[in-house]
Order: sequence, then C-alpha cells, then structure tokens
Amino acid sequence: MAITTQQLIQWKQQGRAIVALTAWDYAIAQLLDAAGVDLILVGDSLAVVLGYETTLPITLDEMIHHAKAVRRGVKRALVVVDLPFLTYQESISQAMHSAGRVLKETGAQAVKLEGGHPAMIETVARLVQAGIPVMGHVGLTPQSIHKMGLRQQGKSPAAGERILNEAIALEQAGVFSIVLEHIPANLALEITQKLRIPTIGIGAGSQCDGQILVTSDVLGLSEKQPPFAKVYTNLREEITKAVQNYALEVRDGQSDTNT
Ligand code: KIV
Ligand code: NA
Repeated sequence: MAITTQQLIQWKQQGRAIVALTAWDYAIAQLLDAAGVDLILVGDSLAVVLGYETTLPITLDEMIHHAKAVRRGVKRALVVVDLPFLTYQESISQAMHSAGRVLKETGAQAVKLEGGHPAMIETVARLVQAGIPVMGHVGLTPQSIHKMGLRQQGKSPAAGERILNEAIALEQAGVFSIVLEHIPANLALEITQKLRIPTIGIGAGSQCDGQILVTSDVLGLSEKQPPFAKVYTNLREEITKAVQNYALEVRDGQSDTNT
C-alpha cells in the first residue's frame, strides 16, 4: 500500500520513526523503495549529483525529468519533490504553477520548499488550500547559501526561537511535515514536541520523528560530505575497484566481456 501524508502524521502519534532518503533516478528509487524507505525525496541536492557546486543552478525542468524517473521506480514510499531556487519565491502564482507542474507531470504526491518567513507562510497556505501537499524545510536552507552559508543555524536562544516560530507557522499553514536541517539537537527536540506534524531531521539530533540523509552521501558516492552525513558504504571505492578490474581484464584479453 502506498504511503500517504496522513500516514506519516499517524506514525508520529504512534512513535514510529519515519525513514527518508533522497533519490535521483529509477534504479536508486527502486532499490530504496524495495528496502523499505518510507519517504523518498527528489531533493535539489540532485544539483550536486549533476556536478553543480550548489543547489542554486538546477531548473524545474531538470527536477521534473529526474522526478519522473524516480516515480517510475517507487511502489510504496511517499515521493516528495523539491521546488528549486526561484521557482516559488517570486509570487504565489509562480509557486502554484511550479508545484502544479511537479504533481501533474511527475505523479509525485508532494512538494518541499525552503523557509518559514511570512511570505513563504502565505505561499504554503495557498498551495495547501489548492490541494497540494507541502513539506516545509527550516534551519539550514541551502538555497540561501550566499546569505547564510552552510553553518549550523539556531544556536543562540533568539535564533532558536525564530526557527521554532517558523515551524509553528508552517504547521498552521498546513504543511504535513517539516525538514529540520543542521540545528542543535535540543532545539529540534523542542520543535518536535511542540508540533503535531512529524519533523524529519538531518544534522538535527536523533530525537526528530524521522531522519533523512542525502543518499549519495550515505553510499559514499559524494566527493565531499557535510559534517553530519553518516557514510554506510564506500561506493566510490567499490566502483573504482570494479572498473579497474574490468580494465585489467580487457587489456589482458582475459575476459569474455561481451558474452
Ligand atoms: O535536497 C536535499 O537533498 C534536501 C535534504 C537534505 C533534506 O533538501
Ligand atoms: Na533540498
């Protein structure tokens, strides 16, 4: 049975942790889904998989192209797609158009957007009113890298309270869940306890309602990882070894590589 946004809220009430990861193509999505991941995010971290330095350059068309492939690989998980930089900040109508394209063209069930300032709260409320499930994202928001850098957010009491208030406003605007990125664990716990909707943490301690990581980090495929990424296997090493073995066998004429 496919997982719904309401299911995630129920799981929070039941204390069942939500397992989330990112995906960027059919094969990865199929593997994650079959392995039991609950929520698959086509994150704009896809930009880094495509060789960009930051998430800023990726376009809505690129996100949609990859989200369609991911969607084809998923039977059970909830599929959420990031709206990329400046495809929703300009106006409510721009956000509606972008989110609408994602849902209509990819078959994904929800979109995620960054920030919790008053203009974004209004945008989120309008998307939700239109029937578009929205996931929030506060704390470190990488689309604002040139403004905030990649530092941990919410360290001072005042900054922590700002993030808490953004999360509360997002819940009131109707988001079904919120990503908390790179904030102190005690702040993430406080937000988690104050909200009815589930928090999904990344670099936000272990007491959120669920966790998300960037799959290319988890698999050891990324050239560099953020400090909070946990690496579960080193695919860069595995792939290098496999390709070197293949190259050796081809050059030695040992292997019937085509049979
Ligand atoms: O783009 C992404 O991968 C994300 C996650 C880190 C939450 O937004
Ligand atoms: Na993202």
